[in-house]
Amino acid sequence: MSSHFAIAIDGPAASGKSTLARELARRLGLVMVNSGAMYRAVTWRLIEDGVDLSNETAVVSALEAMEIDCGVDGLSSTVSIDGVDPGEALRSEQVNGKVSQVSAVPAVRERLVALQRDYLKTADVVMEGRDIGTVVFPDSPYKIYVDADEAVRAQRRVAIGEVDSVADRDRDDSQRKTAPLKVAEGAVILDTSDHTIESGVDAALEILRSQGLEI
Ligand code: DC
Repeated sequence: MSSHFAIAIDGPAASGKSTLARELARRLGLVMVNSGAMYRAVTWRLIEDGVDLSNETAVVSALEAMEIDCGVDGLSSTVSIDGVDPGEALRSEQVNGKVSQVSAVPAVRERLVALQRDYLKTADVVMEGRDIGTVVFPDSPYKIYVDADEAVRAQRRVAIGEVDSVADRDRDDSQRKTAPLKVAEGAVILDTSDHTIESGVDAALEILRSQGLEI
Protein backbone atom coordinates (compact mmCIF):
# COMPACT_ATOMS: atom_id res chain seq x y z
CA MET A 1 0.00 0.00 0.00
CA SER A 2 1.18 3.49 -0.79
CA SER A 3 2.02 5.78 2.07
CA HIS A 4 1.13 8.78 -0.06
CA PHE A 5 -2.23 10.51 -0.06
CA ALA A 6 -4.42 12.36 -2.54
CA ILE A 7 -6.67 15.34 -2.04
CA ALA A 8 -9.50 14.97 -4.57
CA ILE A 9 -10.93 18.15 -6.07
CA ASP A 10 -13.85 17.62 -8.43
CA GLY A 11 -16.36 19.94 -10.03
CA PRO A 12 -17.68 21.35 -13.30
CA ALA A 13 -15.75 23.67 -15.61
CA ALA A 14 -15.43 27.28 -14.44
CA SER A 15 -16.27 26.32 -10.86
CA GLY A 16 -12.90 27.57 -9.63
CA LYS A 17 -11.54 24.09 -8.98
CA SER A 18 -8.30 24.50 -10.95
CA THR A 19 -7.37 27.71 -9.20
CA LEU A 20 -8.28 26.20 -5.86
CA ALA A 21 -6.30 23.02 -6.51
CA ARG A 22 -3.26 24.99 -7.65
CA GLU A 23 -3.32 27.25 -4.60
CA LEU A 24 -3.89 24.38 -2.20
CA ALA A 25 -0.94 22.49 -3.69
CA ARG A 26 1.22 25.59 -3.36
CA ARG A 27 0.21 26.24 0.25
CA LEU A 28 0.66 22.60 1.28
CA GLY A 29 3.76 21.90 -0.86
CA LEU A 30 2.03 19.05 -2.72
CA VAL A 31 2.11 18.11 -6.39
CA MET A 32 -0.89 19.45 -8.30
CA VAL A 33 -2.16 16.97 -10.89
CA ASN A 34 -4.43 18.28 -13.62
CA SER A 35 -6.24 15.15 -14.80
CA GLY A 36 -8.16 17.12 -17.44
CA ALA A 37 -4.85 17.78 -19.20
CA MET A 38 -4.44 14.03 -19.72
CA TYR A 39 -7.88 13.71 -21.38
CA ARG A 40 -7.05 16.79 -23.44
CA ALA A 41 -3.67 15.37 -24.51
CA VAL A 42 -5.19 12.11 -25.75
CA THR A 43 -7.92 14.09 -27.55
CA TRP A 44 -5.29 16.34 -29.15
CA ARG A 45 -3.33 13.35 -30.43
CA LEU A 46 -6.42 11.64 -31.85
CA ILE A 47 -7.37 14.84 -33.70
CA GLU A 48 -3.78 15.26 -34.99
CA ASP A 49 -3.88 11.71 -36.31
CA GLY A 50 -7.24 12.25 -38.00
CA VAL A 51 -8.93 9.45 -36.06
CA ASP A 52 -12.71 9.25 -36.50
CA LEU A 53 -13.80 10.03 -32.92
CA SER A 54 -17.25 8.58 -33.45
CA ASN A 55 -15.66 5.18 -34.17
CA GLU A 56 -14.84 3.73 -30.75
CA THR A 57 -12.85 0.82 -32.20
CA ALA A 58 -10.62 3.26 -34.09
CA VAL A 59 -10.19 5.40 -30.96
CA VAL A 60 -9.22 2.37 -28.87
CA SER A 61 -6.66 1.08 -31.35
CA ALA A 62 -5.10 4.56 -31.70
CA LEU A 63 -5.01 4.78 -27.90
CA GLU A 64 -3.23 1.44 -27.64
CA ALA A 65 -0.51 2.68 -29.98
CA MET A 66 0.11 5.85 -27.92
CA GLU A 67 2.93 6.21 -25.48
CA ILE A 68 1.59 8.41 -22.69
CA ASP A 69 4.07 9.86 -20.21
CA CYS A 70 2.88 11.60 -17.09
CA GLY A 71 5.41 13.32 -14.89
CA VAL A 72 6.08 16.22 -12.60
CA ASP A 73 7.83 19.52 -13.20
CA GLY A 74 8.33 21.42 -9.96
CA LEU A 75 4.96 21.02 -8.22
CA SER A 76 2.88 20.55 -11.39
CA SER A 77 1.98 17.50 -13.43
CA THR A 78 3.12 17.19 -17.03
CA VAL A 79 1.86 15.03 -19.87
CA SER A 80 3.35 14.10 -23.21
CA ILE A 81 2.21 11.75 -25.94
CA ASP A 82 4.76 9.91 -28.06
CA GLY A 83 7.38 12.27 -26.67
CA VAL A 84 5.49 15.48 -27.45
CA ASP A 85 4.10 17.92 -24.89
CA PRO A 86 1.10 19.52 -26.67
CA GLY A 87 1.46 22.75 -24.64
CA GLU A 88 -1.02 25.47 -25.56
CA ALA A 89 -2.76 23.14 -28.02
CA LEU A 90 -4.37 21.41 -25.04
CA ARG A 91 -6.75 24.33 -24.71
CA SER A 92 -7.59 24.81 -28.40
CA GLU A 93 -11.19 25.15 -29.63
CA GLN A 94 -10.93 21.76 -31.35
CA VAL A 95 -9.82 20.00 -28.20
CA ASN A 96 -12.48 21.83 -26.14
CA GLY A 97 -15.12 20.65 -28.57
CA LYS A 98 -14.07 16.99 -28.60
CA VAL A 99 -12.63 16.21 -25.17
CA SER A 100 -15.96 15.16 -23.62
CA GLN A 101 -16.58 12.68 -26.42
CA VAL A 102 -13.13 11.14 -26.01
CA SER A 103 -13.28 11.06 -22.23
CA ALA A 104 -16.57 9.13 -22.35
CA VAL A 105 -14.75 6.12 -23.89
CA PRO A 106 -14.20 3.53 -21.11
CA ALA A 107 -10.80 2.36 -22.46
CA VAL A 108 -9.53 5.95 -22.39
CA ARG A 109 -10.63 6.35 -18.79
CA GLU A 110 -9.16 3.02 -17.74
CA ARG A 111 -5.73 3.90 -19.13
CA LEU A 112 -5.68 7.43 -17.67
CA VAL A 113 -7.05 6.43 -14.27
CA ALA A 114 -4.15 3.95 -13.92
CA LEU A 115 -1.67 6.73 -14.73
CA GLN A 116 -3.40 9.05 -12.24
CA ARG A 117 -3.12 6.43 -9.50
CA ASP A 118 0.58 5.96 -10.31
CA TYR A 119 1.28 9.47 -9.01
CA LEU A 120 0.79 8.17 -5.47
CA LYS A 121 3.81 5.90 -5.87
CA THR A 122 6.05 8.93 -5.56
CA ALA A 123 4.17 11.93 -4.20
CA ASP A 124 1.34 13.37 -2.14
CA VAL A 125 -0.97 15.13 -4.57
CA VAL A 126 -3.85 17.48 -5.05
CA MET A 127 -5.64 16.07 -8.07
CA GLU A 128 -8.40 17.92 -9.85
CA GLY A 129 -10.93 16.51 -12.28
CA ARG A 130 -14.44 15.08 -12.53
CA ASP A 131 -14.14 11.59 -11.00
CA ILE A 132 -11.18 11.84 -8.65
CA GLY A 133 -13.23 11.33 -5.48
CA THR A 134 -15.67 8.86 -7.02
CA VAL A 135 -13.41 6.61 -9.12
CA VAL A 136 -9.70 7.42 -8.97
CA PHE A 137 -9.31 7.67 -5.19
CA PRO A 138 -12.67 6.65 -3.68
CA ASP A 139 -10.95 5.70 -0.39
CA SER A 140 -9.30 9.06 0.13
CA PRO A 141 -10.76 10.84 3.16
CA TYR A 142 -9.92 14.21 1.57
CA LYS A 143 -12.53 15.20 -0.96
CA ILE A 144 -13.94 18.54 -2.01
CA TYR A 145 -16.60 19.13 -4.64
CA VAL A 146 -16.24 22.66 -5.96
CA ASP A 147 -19.22 24.47 -7.39
CA ALA A 148 -20.41 28.01 -8.11
CA ASP A 149 -23.65 29.77 -9.10
CA GLU A 150 -24.63 29.64 -12.74
CA ALA A 151 -24.19 33.42 -13.07
CA VAL A 152 -20.71 33.36 -11.56
CA ARG A 153 -19.69 30.40 -13.69
CA ALA A 154 -21.06 32.13 -16.79
CA GLN A 155 -18.85 35.16 -16.03
CA ARG A 156 -15.83 32.93 -15.53
CA ARG A 157 -16.62 31.11 -18.77
CA VAL A 158 -16.52 34.40 -20.64
CA ALA A 159 -13.22 35.19 -18.92
CA ILE A 160 -11.70 31.93 -20.20
CA GLY A 161 -13.32 32.45 -23.62
CA GLU A 162 -15.20 29.15 -23.76
CA VAL A 163 -18.86 30.12 -23.47
CA ASP A 164 -20.54 27.47 -25.63
CA SER A 165 -18.29 24.47 -25.34
CA VAL A 166 -18.16 24.71 -21.54
CA ALA A 167 -21.94 24.40 -21.20
CA ASP A 168 -21.97 21.46 -23.59
CA ARG A 169 -19.05 19.80 -21.84
CA ASP A 170 -20.68 20.12 -18.42
CA ARG A 171 -23.82 18.47 -19.72
CA ASP A 172 -21.92 15.68 -21.45
CA ASP A 173 -19.54 15.11 -18.51
CA SER A 174 -22.47 14.83 -16.08
CA GLN A 175 -24.64 12.61 -18.26
CA ARG A 176 -22.11 10.06 -19.51
CA LYS A 177 -22.40 6.43 -18.42
CA THR A 178 -18.81 5.92 -17.25
CA ALA A 179 -17.64 7.99 -14.27
CA PRO A 180 -20.06 10.92 -14.65
CA LEU A 181 -19.38 14.11 -12.73
CA LYS A 182 -21.16 13.85 -9.38
CA VAL A 183 -20.53 14.56 -5.72
CA ALA A 184 -18.42 11.73 -4.25
CA GLU A 185 -19.40 9.95 -1.07
CA GLY A 186 -17.70 11.80 1.77
CA ALA A 187 -17.03 14.95 -0.28
CA VAL A 188 -17.82 18.36 1.16
CA ILE A 189 -19.31 20.86 -1.29
CA LEU A 190 -17.48 24.17 -1.47
CA ASP A 191 -19.40 26.89 -3.28
CA THR A 192 -16.87 29.44 -4.52
CA SER A 193 -19.44 32.01 -5.80
CA ASP A 194 -18.84 34.50 -3.00
CA HIS A 195 -15.23 33.62 -2.31
CA THR A 196 -12.05 35.34 -3.30
CA ILE A 197 -9.19 33.01 -4.17
CA GLU A 198 -7.72 33.60 -0.73
CA SER A 199 -10.93 32.99 1.23
CA GLY A 200 -11.75 29.96 -0.95
CA VAL A 201 -8.39 28.40 -0.12
CA ASP A 202 -8.96 29.10 3.59
CA ALA A 203 -12.39 27.45 3.39
CA ALA A 204 -10.88 24.44 1.62
CA LEU A 205 -8.17 24.10 4.26
CA GLU A 206 -10.87 24.16 6.94
CA ILE A 207 -12.76 21.37 5.14
CA LEU A 208 -9.58 19.30 4.82
CA ARG A 209 -8.88 19.75 8.55
CA SER A 210 -12.42 18.58 9.30
CA GLN A 211 -11.69 15.51 7.13
CA GLY A 212 -8.67 14.73 9.29
CA LEU A 213 -5.81 16.21 7.31
CA GLU A 214 -3.14 17.34 9.75
CA ILE A 215 -2.17 20.82 8.60
O1 DC B 1 -10.65 20.00 -16.28
P1 DC B 1 -10.80 20.26 -17.78
O2 DC B 1 -11.92 21.20 -18.10
O3 DC B 1 -9.51 20.68 -18.42
O4 DC B 1 -11.17 18.84 -18.37
C1 DC B 1 -11.38 18.65 -19.76
C2 DC B 1 -12.33 17.51 -20.00
O5 DC B 1 -11.72 16.28 -19.63
C3 DC B 1 -13.65 17.56 -19.26
O6 DC B 1 -14.62 18.26 -19.98
C4 DC B 1 -14.00 16.10 -19.10
C5 DC B 1 -12.67 15.39 -19.10
N1 DC B 1 -12.26 14.98 -17.75
C6 DC B 1 -12.76 13.79 -17.28
O7 DC B 1 -13.59 13.18 -17.95
N2 DC B 1 -12.36 13.32 -16.08
C7 DC B 1 -11.47 13.98 -15.35
N3 DC B 1 -11.07 13.48 -14.17
C8 DC B 1 -10.95 15.22 -15.80
C9 DC B 1 -11.38 15.70 -17.02
